[in-house]
Amino acid sequence: MTKKFKRTTVTSALPYANGPVHIGHLAGVYVPADIYARYLRLKGEDVVFIGGSDEHGVPVTIRARKEGITTQQVVDRYHKLIKESFERFGISFDIYSRTTSKTHHQVASDFFKKLYDEGKFVEKVTEQFYDEQTGHFLTDRNIKGECPRCHAPEAYGDQCEKCGATLSPEELINPYNAETGNPLVKKATKHWYLPLDKDQEWLEKWILEEHKEWRPNVYGQCKSWLDGGLHPRAVTRDLEWGIPVPIEGAEGKVLYVWFDAPIGYISNTKELCEQRPELGSWETWWKDPETRLVHFIGKDNIVFHCIVFPAMLKAHGDYILPDNVPSNEFLNLEGNKISTSKNYAVWLNEYLDELPGREDELRYVLTANAPETKDNDFTWADFQARCNNELVAVYGNFVNRALQLTQKYYEGVVPACGELNDFDRETLSEFQGVKEKLENLLENFKFRDAQKEAMNLARIGNKYIADSEPWKVIKTDPERVNTIINISLQLTANLAIAFEPFLPFSSKRLRDMLAMPKFQWDWLGRTDLLPVGKQLPKPSLLFSKIEDDVIAFQQKKLADTIKANMEADYKVEPIAETIAFDDFQKLDIRVGTVLECERVPKMKKLLKFLIDDGLQKRTIVSGIAEWYEPEQLKGQQVLFVANLAPREFKNGLVSEGMILSATNWDGSAVVTSTLSNVKPGSRIS
Ligand code: MF3
Ligand code: ZN
Repeated sequence: MTKKFKRTTVTSALPYANGPVHIGHLAGVYVPADIYARYLRLKGEDVVFIGGSDEHGVPVTIRARKEGITTQQVVDRYHKLIKESFERFGISFDIYSRTTSKTHHQVASDFFKKLYDEGKFVEKVTEQFYDEQTGHFLTDRNIKGECPRCHAPEAYGDQCEKCGATLSPEELINPYNAETGNPLVKKATKHWYLPLDKDQEWLEKWILEEHKEWRPNVYGQCKSWLDGGLHPRAVTRDLEWGIPVPIEGAEGKVLYVWFDAPIGYISNTKELCEQRPELGSWETWWKDPETRLVHFIGKDNIVFHCIVFPAMLKAHGDYILPDNVPSNEFLNLEGNKISTSKNYAVWLNEYLDELPGREDELRYVLTANAPETKDNDFTWADFQARCNNELVAVYGNFVNRALQLTQKYYEGVVPACGELNDFDRETLSEFQGVKEKLENLLENFKFRDAQKEAMNLARIGNKYIADSEPWKVIKTDPERVNTIINISLQLTANLAIAFEPFLPFSSKRLRDMLAMPKFQWDWLGRTDLLPVGKQLPKPSLLFSKIEDDVIAFQQKKLADTIKANMEADYKVEPIAETIAFDDFQKLDIRVGTVLECERVPKMKKLLKFLIDDGLQKRTIVSGIAEWYEPEQLKGQQVLFVANLAPREFKNGLVSEGMILSATNWDGSAVVTSTLSNVKPGSRIS
């Protein structure tokens, strides 16, 4: 840690309590924050790791309406679920509280009041959309109307999902309440704004000049906001759910969720310090310039944490500002965007239930594939490969070999190290360099590379055992094997320390196998961690392989979700233009019996039918081979257009008509027939 700091306040974005947390949240925020907090603790530094649920805002109210329960019930349900999942997953928060807590309402309310009293806000009356029947002002997302660009009838007040245009509710044609369908009117309403335009200058200096070390994605986003010029931002809303605006004449108004939520970090620290007096005053963690404040967030939170919240802290006075804001990009899932509303995700609670005891496997893969510099993709195939080829085959394998050989040759007692040869010395110097490399990477938030370094220790170990071949040497020079095993065991103990911030569960299992209850970061690189003569317990496998059926189950689950979403999203085509009865009469649709049906060589989509049309046999070719086996259709009656001009295919095949089928929502074809059998050749009318 840079010299000028004495302690660190680590925060991680407060997840909305509108659904469970998923791997995108974990990879983006919680796993890296946890690695960092664990690392600092292991180094013996003073650190608090703050978490909690974000329980205000529109997302939770939308969820409540969707599920038909109250908003309070929604946040209670998901707060509990999220908190428990984090605990089970080893996210080592010092506190995980919630923004509906009494403490938070008080702290956030006081914060607003102070700024208000000191005249830090600008009051503005603007015209907003209002539903006269329900008596509500509406937020952008709750307003729908016709898109001014593509004229889709159901564009949202902030975006048209059909053509992708970014909109403001003013632009919508005939705006209405998305939920009730009621038409909307404009009505004047008063709100309080944080005049960010006045912060432009110091923010530019503070970020663009003094924090060039921030990650390029964070720095870049800040720069483009600042270059665009900052504008006043409303910090209140016309809503029922939230923290009431604590001033007279503001009835029916609450603090904007992005005003209260980051203050939640402060409230939760306060709550923590009340629970654990040894941490001292909460103010030390937020106001002492010797405290380093670090926010872990996802990329959609950058502006709030780098510009708005610092401006709030500065306006309040006394507070320190973040020293760094490590933000990740997004994680996709099997090539698609993760979506809470579409239920397309790997949910942490389900993972923990379905792959019990495999917390570290997920932690490992999410870090190995962390979206630190660009969006990344999580796939179950990659998950399996990394677990089996890296955790099992490298880390687990090395540990297992070292421990099994100790059992085999020494009944589990640590042998003494003899004289070192060149290869020993080379190996030791290689692994002693790892501590510094790891520290450098961790302190610069390069968790992906840091974990690679830890894994490299295991690779060094594997190579050491493989090349020194104790199983051969034991026959000729048993003394030498003492040294090989001693070094291997010391390496194993080093692995338990190096991996603790990343993989705390397996690190604990390993320490148990090494009877090593105490450990600290600074021991990393030492070769005397396991004293000679120490009896080790019987080892078990550190990791086990992930079988194909586990992966197939997860892949199917996602595929099923995509299908269900497609079905739900499927829009029935509008009815075609009206035609005259005569036009219909021109079409000769008949019932035919399928006499033969077969695939067409080299034409994957086609099935060739021989149809009895009541008068003769005719050949019809139809592009439905993807959906049917020929045997399924043989002997069936089908409907076909009998008077269609014959059509010739590339290979000379001629189709004398067209078999009618329905195109289902997923694009599949379903062949039509009559409700009961009729004489072939019967006309449809
Ligand atoms: N709930 C927000 C989100 O999920 C994050 C809030 S972070 C905090 O995007 F700063 F407000 F706490
Ligand atoms: Zn549109």
